[in-house]
Amino acid sequence: MSDVFTVRLDMDDGAPVVRMVDQRLLPTEVVIRAYAEAEPVARSITDMVVRGAPAIGITAAYGIAVGLWTAPAGGAAWDQAVIDLCARFAATRPTAVNLFWAIERMARKAREVRQMPTAERCAALVAESLAIHDEDRAACLALGDHGASVMPDEGGVLTHCNAGALATGGQGTALGVIRSAVRAGKRLHVWVDETRPYLQGARLTAWEMFTESIPCTLITDNMAAWQMQQGKIQSAVVGADRIAANGDVSNKIGTYGVAVLCAHHGIPLYVAAPTSTIDLDCPTGAQIPIEERDRREVTHVGGWAPPEMIAALEVAPAGVGVANPAFDVTPAALVAGIATEFGVIRPPYGPGLAQAVGLANDGRTTTG
Ligand code: MRU
Repeated sequence: MSDVFTVRLDMDDGAPVVRMVDQRLLPTEVVIRAYAEAEPVARSITDMVVRGAPAIGITAAYGIAVGLWTAPAGGAAWDQAVIDLCARFAATRPTAVNLFWAIERMARKAREVRQMPTAERCAALVAESLAIHDEDRAACLALGDHGASVMPDEGGVLTHCNAGALATGGQGTALGVIRSAVRAGKRLHVWVDETRPYLQGARLTAWEMFTESIPCTLITDNMAAWQMQQGKIQSAVVGADRIAANGDVSNKIGTYGVAVLCAHHGIPLYVAAPTSTIDLDCPTGAQIPIEERDRREVTHVGGWAPPEMIAALEVAPAGVGVANPAFDVTPAALVAGIATEFGVIRPPYGPGLAQAVGLANDGRTTTG
């Protein structure tokens, strides 16, 4: 990543501006977008300029802080502005619960400060959005260190999608575990699933690992089974977009397939996620809303970006029926452990997940 950042809030001439790298153009081009209004920030989430569960939560928090900066003072007009902005950001993407978690936190803060003088009120909302980012950075480090303890001392680790720095406010979740393990001296080789159709693995994860000189090999998704059978993969670690109260995990489409392959080959599959990804209101994975995305992502190579940005190659007959669910659900029974900032939770997941969320709500950052 070096000098590239995922998302940040700057104060330009005393007013907040959201800046982010355009992930649709990585790794071939590094383009920084700057948004001084809430609406383009919301669009940046839907259009996947920024993506990854924690990163879109942080971005929504920044977008709400930007939108409320110019909102009418106090009273009913303020309350309505808060409701409208939160609804706008809640409509950007449906699956990652970190988004709704961050929106709810900003809404709570907005209600708390509604009677304050304008300058203080706006500053409090900017501070809350920055705190959400800081907490995610700290959570990534802590869960990375916990997750590192279950990685092999040496061997191949498969990951799917991009659950790295580009998807979070810090070192990443799954890639955070790998980074922590490598820092601790473990000799890991990362097997990177390309992750069709959006290619988060090929474009983003391979780039993060390769530029940091962490040994890695990129494979297409249909090569993972063979590499496992060949004994190249000893462990797997993925991120999550929403973890249900029973430990079912929604993550990038294809994660369920990886989990089934791992079970067949006796390879442990770990999930790495901060507590902001746990949704105790969702009893099982069956209640998790799964985003269906544009058919062009499947019918075109390069279809992840708008046509004016990337000349995509059509690889399917025009008009053919297409399904493009962006996420799937891995049953808890296929997950060996869930690394959070409070430690690695083991099955049965219900009590451990509830305890972790309780600790987070108490404002704790570690179990110690
Ligand atoms: O559609 P995306 O790219 O936003 O999906 C991202 C993922 O599925 C990640 O694995 C998940 O958000 C975990 S990110 C730390």
